[in-house]
Amino acid sequence: MDTMHADHNTPRRWGKPIRILAATTGLMLILAACGQDGGGEDAASYPDDSITITVPFAAGGPTDTVTRLVAKPMSKELGQEIVVKNAEGAGGTLAAGDVAEAEPDGYTLLMHHIGMSTAPALYPDLAFDPLKDFKTIGLVTTVPMTIVSNKDFEPNNLEELVTYVKANADKVTLANAGVGAASHLCGLLIEQAVGVDLNEVPYDGTGPALTDLVGGQVDFLCDQTTNTIPQIEGDKVKAFAVTTPERIDALPDLQTTAEAGLPDVEVGVWHGLYAPAETPDEVVKAVTDALAKALKDPEVVKKMADLGTEPVPEDQVTPDAHTKLLGEQIDLWTPVIEDAGVKGS
Ligand code: MLT
Repeated sequence: MDTMHADHNTPRRWGKPIRILAATTGLMLILAACGQDGGGEDAASYPDDSITITVPFAAGGPTDTVTRLVAKPMSKELGQEIVVKNAEGAGGTLAAGDVAEAEPDGYTLLMHHIGMSTAPALYPDLAFDPLKDFKTIGLVTTVPMTIVSNKDFEPNNLEELVTYVKANADKVTLANAGVGAASHLCGLLIEQAVGVDLNEVPYDGTGPALTDLVGGQVDFLCDQTTNTIPQIEGDKVKAFAVTTPERIDALPDLQTTAEAGLPDVEVGVWHGLYAPAETPDEVVKAVTDALAKALKDPEVVKKMADLGTEPVPEDQVTPDAHTKLLGEQIDLWTPVIEDAGVKGS
């Protein structure tokens, strides 16, 4: 197995609403007229209203965390509020489909991860083409994953976990955030590496999955460090391994999957920002520039480091680098998923 680096859909037209104010017998009459499509002039004034970034998973999870981290400095840079909207379902594909169809004006964007590249193979009826129905804005970060369990789960290290799940495959529960979610892909890698078929418990995101894990409702989960590190540090979960080739600074005592004998369970969850395909290039450039600045913000860098990750290098915060990786990852994952015979619905 190869490494996994491996709405507000409010209709909005280009053209500022024209407000004509007229005083008539003491009454203020407000006429609003929507402008015509056409772009250039209005792209130049972008943004003149709040922007929504859709997160295709539940609030409180890793995609939500990364989005909120960058949204704050991006908002400062763009001079407009950025609303983060969670619209979960079908491993992130429902919200992605909605954003693909949103008005291409730069006011509805999508933060998505590796799932964008696995969705075409996993969902035969996918409502969008990741390469044709979006403009890429730039890459954001690549996040390691960790295998964690609730505190009462019997195994105490990854070697014991492998033995335990082999012996108890019929009763062990493995949480994920739906078909195509990073947690689902990592879970598949674990199942393939160990040679078991576990009881998967799908959630709308690993935010709620981790809450249930801590509460003892599910046994274990492979999830991004942006979600698990606070729980690991708070001693709320057992941590078994990190899915990177080397140990990570934020969790120096945690062994890697390779050290623990599962070298094929190597996962990095890359994230990128998208706009609908017809969004004007000037608008995309404004968002790319704001994203690049946000990723240099010392607070963002520090918080990402605390959560086991870092911003991508600056030359990756471009539409070209993002499109290149997306295409490569679709080519990488499509045959792997087709061979595995996994499908979402
Ligand atoms: C989330 O934000 O909930 C995650 O990214 C889900 C996942 O892909 O495992």
